[in-house]
Amino acid sequence: MKMLKKEYGICNKPSLNSARKRILNDSKIIKFEFPEKLIGIGNGKNYLVKTYGCQGNLADSEKISGLLEKLGFTPCESEATADLVIFNTCAIRENAENRIYGELGRIKKIKKVKPDMIIGICGCMMQEESTITMIQKKYPHVDLIFGTHNITKLPEYIEHTLNNRKVIDVLSVEGDIYEDVPVIRDHPYKAWVNIMYGCDEFCTYCIVPYTRGRERSRMPEDIIKEVKELAENGYKEVTLLGQNVNAYGKDLGINYGFADLLTDLNKIKIDRIRFTTSHPRDFDDATIDAMALGGNIMPHLHLPVQSGNDEVLKRMNRKYTSGEYIEKMKKLKERVLGISITTDIIVAFPGETEEQFQDTIKLVKEIEYEGAYTFIYSPREGTPAAKYPNPLTEEEKKQRLLTLNEVINEYTNKGHKRFENEIVEVLVDGKSKSSEEMYTGYTKHNMLVNFEGTDDLIGTIVKVKVLKSFTWHLLGEIVK
Ligand code: 5AD
Ligand code: SF4
Repeated sequence: MKMLKKEYGICNKPSLNSARKRILNDSKIIKFEFPEKLIGIGNGKNYLVKTYGCQGNLADSEKISGLLEKLGFTPCESEATADLVIFNTCAIRENAENRIYGELGRIKKIKKVKPDMIIGICGCMMQEESTITMIQKKYPHVDLIFGTHNITKLPEYIEHTLNNRKVIDVLSVEGDIYEDVPVIRDHPYKAWVNIMYGCDEFCTYCIVPYTRGRERSRMPEDIIKEVKELAENGYKEVTLLGQNVNAYGKDLGINYGFADLLTDLNKIKIDRIRFTTSHPRDFDDATIDAMALGGNIMPHLHLPVQSGNDEVLKRMNRKYTSGEYIEKMKKLKERVLGISITTDIIVAFPGETEEQFQDTIKLVKEIEYEGAYTFIYSPREGTPAAKYPNPLTEEEKKQRLLTLNEVINEYTNKGHKRFENEIVEVLVDGKSKSSEEMYTGYTKHNMLVNFEGTDDLIGTIVKVKVLKSFTWHLLGEIVK
């Protein structure tokens, strides 16, 4: 069937350059008002949101779902039954982007049989002008493109697309913070709560400051209110989200920082508070003090180090040395006994020598990370490091990743082993994917545990005796 060429209802593309030039953020905090006249335009139609990338994207997708359901759309599980499919994309590495292009190619075939299906695409990839040009050229079956700064305008975009008009609307710079946007949470007892948006760090390899804009913090009272409501509604765990949560509050000018927020949230009757991601430069004594209070603040820290070599860290614009990082972690381990520390590491950053790589291995051994996300450096167009020469072959890069992962696994094993024969508290997620009888959940230290259980335990915290440890999980039995 031949598709009709649609006119554009809106067509605004971003520019990385204007995102980069912007230094100050003058965002306001605004109460979101839903365009009431559009309620019902999605009645009788199904939607599916497919999310890629980090928890920030998951949180955005929850807002997208909230807005769509308010319009009248009903969630569905498959593209075959969906009238609207939205891909929420990630731009952090090239392979994340390639995956999306694969998805767009695949869904083209479905749209051929279902020409009325609306295909939308949003998220970090859409903040890149070249991506949008490519989508227009190669994937003309996409009807709707919007960015990370204008999710709240989705109801109007949907109205356009339902009226057979295409929409491209991507803002180059961050907008205001909207409070009270409707959300449909993905999980019945674990919630993601943005405490801030954007990033001011400009690590030389990273696209995020360009795709997510400058740092903007939510007001403490709005966050505290949201966490209190989640607790009242039976949520057991809240993960506070930000690209650099340790910078929380700096832009508010009210002398209230991340440690103050943690301390206030610790007073709320909710079982578990986690946060991600921290930045080593801004991770301070006050945060260590707040974590040392224990309570609902979980004994786990994810603190991306990226490299163990000072020269590489400098070229990455990370603004700390390996020595400073180690010092902070020493202090933390003394104050929060048994804390589990995990990290992110990039290998083969442009110009990384074998000796510099070995410094990363040394640092991993020194900190004894109990888990890590490890990546081969991926050049991102528009970032400074994309212009740095990188003479390593693909084979050498892969070898570094393998070597690093072997060392990390050793310490992940060791970290898991320390819980053998211990009794741990597990928030039960549900059935394990690998077996009908087994259930899974996470410990306070954020370790995955498998055990025999029953459906009624889902969403509760149970005590589990750890019988055996493995690299990726613990095996245990419920303590009656
Ligand atoms: N290449 C490889 N890894 C990257 N990360 C960010 N940008 C890149 C890139 N260009 C990694 C960092 C960060 C994590 C979320 O992704 O380790 O902490
Ligand atoms: Fe990217 Fe660095 Fe900001 Fe993290 S702190 S989002 S790595 S620029």
